[in-house]
Order: sequence, then structure tokens, then C-alpha cells
Amino acid sequence: MSDEEKRRWKGPGGDKKDSGRRTTERKVIARNARTESSKRWIERQLQDPYVRKSKEEGYRSRAAYKLLEIDEEAHILKRGQRVVDLGCAPGGWIQVALLKGASEVVGIDLLPVDPIEGATIFEGDVNEPADVDKLLGALSGPPDLVLSDMAANTTGHKQTDHLRTVTLVELAVDFAIAHLAPGGAFCSKVFQGGAAKDVLDKLKLNFRTVKHIKPPASRAGSPEIYVIAKGFKGGSK
Ligand SMILES: C[S@@+](CC[C@H](N)C(=O)[O-])C[C@H]1O[C@@H](n2cnc3c(N)ncnc32)[C@H](O)[C@@H]1O
Repeated sequence: MSDEEKRRWKGPGGDKKDSGRRTTERKVIARNARTESSKRWIERQLQDPYVRKSKEEGYRSRAAYKLLEIDEEAHILKRGQRVVDLGCAPGGWIQVALLKGASEVVGIDLLPVDPIEGATIFEGDVNEPADVDKLLGALSGPPDLVLSDMAANTTGHKQTDHLRTVTLVELAVDFAIAHLAPGGAFCSKVFQGGAAKDVLDKLKLNFRTVKHIKPPASRAGSPEIYVIAKGFKGGSK
């Protein structure tokens, strides 16, 4: 974090005193976890340096580092931007957008999110036009940046999970193309080697540059990767 970023930082970074107690609590939870998969998940969390770092630096999720790393390479976060964050819970990306100087940040998630000073957060569904209207209504103008880290709960049924993920990416792309300000940017989680061909074609038609980034904070074993599109041409093509 630069000095300027530290000065702007209003997040709960000061709760380091609590971290010893929380680590013990987490270890107890790990011991009591019922299923093998939840045990594996908790063990991985306990050993994950990004999880530890996020607690120390006051980020709500390790996902915050993915956006910071994406931005180091793609330079999508700018001061004074209006930012939309689709699938924002628990709020790590919102914290990063504010830290980088966004003037307005609105987020939406199916899950409730604790308030973040400087952001407007809605509990709702990106699939619901009324929820999308509320989200856009909270901004003073069209967004300069649309972020989507949306992920569906996995069912374990491969085809169903794949379909759900593809649908969320399409939803995010359509949202961005319908609402971004000209020159705006889009960043979305996609899976399995990148955006599907039809999605990629749509992005290439509507943005000046399109590329994929796998940030180091994204686990090597995870199929997730991010697509970044910059220079929105304006108007849906
Ligand atoms: C990986 S988490 C996002 C983490 C977030 N970027 C952060 O930094 O804290 C993905 C989120 O997408 C949300 N999501 C999935 N489908 C959604 C939908 N249709 N509308 C709104 N949120 C959705 C989930 O509820 C989940 O909280």
C-alpha cells in the first residue's frame, strides 16, 4: 500500500489485536468441521498467506488481492470513477475500489453485506431488473467500471455448474455493455480457460482491448481466470 493509499484507508485494519483469538477460534472450527470437504476448505484457509494478509490489512476477503493484482497489470481502477461491483459479498473488491479513489461505488449481492463507508450496497439479484434499476439509480451517472466476481454455489453436477457460471458471465457482460460510460472498463471472473467464444466476440466488438489475467492470488488449482475489457466504444453492438 502506498502512503497515499494508507492515508485514504478507512477499513477495519486496526483489529490486529483480535487476530490471535480469531486464529484459535478458526482452529477449533477446523477440528469440529463435519465433512471431509469442509475440513479441507478450513485447513486451506488456515494455511493461506492471502487469508492471513487480508486479516492483517483489514480486507474482508482474500479476493481483494486478486483485484489489486489485476489492477497492477491492467490499470483499471482510477480516481474519481463510478464503480459497480456485481456479486460483491463480503466486500473486498469494494474496499479496493474505494482505496484507489473511486468517487462512487455501488455493489449488489444475493447475500447481505455489512455496510462499508463510502459505498452503497444492495441485497439483490443481478437477474432481477428491479434490483438492477435500484443499483443504477444509486449512481449519479453511468459507471466507468463494471466489476463482476460473481460465482454460483456449486452443486457438484458438472454440467449444471458450468451452465450456471456461463450464465453469470453473460449477465455481467450484458450489464456492462448496456450501462457503461463510453471509454469505460469491465473486469469479470470467467472459468475454464477464459471467456467462451461468443462472449469474447461480443467483448471484442464493444471494447478496444480484451485480455485475460490469472492473478497470483487466484489459486493455481482453481479454474477461475479474469477477463478485462477496456475502452468501451459506447452503445450496444
Ligand atoms: C466470490 S464472491 C465475491 C467476492 C468479492 N469480490 C469480494 O471481494 O469480497 C461471489 C459472490 O457472487 C454472488 N452472486 C452470485 N450470483 C449472484 C447474482 N445473481 N446476483 C448477485 N450476486 C450474486 C454470491 O452470492 C457471492 O457472494
